[in-house]
Amino acid sequence: MAAERRIYLDHAATTPLDPRVLEAMLPYLREHWGNPASLYAEAQEARRGLEAARRTIAGILGCRPQEIIVTSGGSESDNLALRGAAYAARRQGRGEQIVTTAIEHHAILHTAERLEQEGFPVTYLGVDSEGLIDLAELEQAVSEETALVSIMHVNNEVGTIEPVQEAARVVKEKSPRTAFHTDAVQAIGMLDVDVGRLGVDMLSLAAHKFYGPKGVGALYVRPRTPFLPQQLGGSQEKNRRAGTENVAGVVGMARATELAYGKFDARNAHYRALRDRLFCGIPERVPYVHVTGPRNLSRRVSNNFSACFEFIEGEAILMALDLAGVAASSGSACTSGSLEPSHVLTAMGVPEDLARGSLRLTVGEDNTLEDMDRVLDVLPGIVSRLRSLSPAWPERQAAGAQG
Ligand SMILES: Cc1ncc(COP(=O)(O)O)c(C=O)c1O
Repeated sequence: MAAERRIYLDHAATTPLDPRVLEAMLPYLREHWGNPASLYAEAQEARRGLEAARRTIAGILGCRPQEIIVTSGGSESDNLALRGAAYAARRQGRGEQIVTTAIEHHAILHTAERLEQEGFPVTYLGVDSEGLIDLAELEQAVSEETALVSIMHVNNEVGTIEPVQEAARVVKEKSPRTAFHTDAVQAIGMLDVDVGRLGVDMLSLAAHKFYGPKGVGALYVRPRTPFLPQQLGGSQEKNRRAGTENVAGVVGMARATELAYGKFDARNAHYRALRDRLFCGIPERVPYVHVTGPRNLSRRVSNNFSACFEFIEGEAILMALDLAGVAASSGSACTSGSLEPSHVLTAMGVPEDLARGSLRLTVGEDNTLEDMDRVLDVLPGIVSRLRSLSPAWPERQAAGAQG
């Protein structure tokens, strides 16, 4: 009997490498392996590939190629944006405050915490029950003393699209010299990320979230943004990030961006159709489910479904789904045995108990409506089996039956 096809629904964690991306990368692994910084003939092809890739990525972001620093991925881009702007402000003797949100990825939050330990005052903006920041709160938090504001474009757990364009405008009106960074790691391929339209000074991306290779990313930096390089050594990336570039990786990232934006509308429509089936089907078939993130689906990135299930641990659902052939995520960070409820859900006001029952399904190119139907078939059974093991469940059912 043929094994049933596995269904991968964790595209926010990473995506498979598109075969066309691999194809574009191979010549830079096999033949053009020279160091792009060298002057001889062997190096020239590598340099040409790197610079052509930079032009492609710049075309998508609407910036100039020299405004892109290639990095080792989203985490490095985020670290570099925060530390680069913070230490530039300190060196120039300007205000050192940093403003960010409580629901950022840990690449931002842990960097902000470290900067706090290093003496930079950090303000964390709250969010509403759907994960949206409040522009009035942002305006209040920012002053001439603010070195940097960092607000993510799309939340990786609940898919909320933050009003980055409006936020950048608010910041610039209040304090034109304050730098504005956005972590757009979860936005690429699903939202327009033109840096001019968004009005941002820095933007992070990571290739493996949109069918490119892992371990490569980029940071856009607008000219004249106060920025102090953090990784020192050679003069690569115009002295802003030392180290020989991952040429094949950058070429792959460029091909992946091209593919993502080449069929932008079709891809989003496909994702929405799949995601909407989960949105209708799951609450209909499973009782005591609370959708997390925006209910207005236009405020939500096209590939994300997230919800909390009462009376169960998200991790238990994941394990059962895995056995049923479905790869999913709880969307929350868990470290060796201690299951911390997600900082995103708690910032949104989800009670801790409920936050422990979170599930995130993020769809991708290869998913089909039949895949969604299979999830809808297996999930109710999994949830009721797990709930039957919860001591509080019979009471809740009885209360539900009366009410
Ligand atoms: C919003 C966001 N920022 C940053 C990162 C980190 O990216 P990377 O894994 O490429 O370091 C991720 C990855 O999950 C993310 O979702």
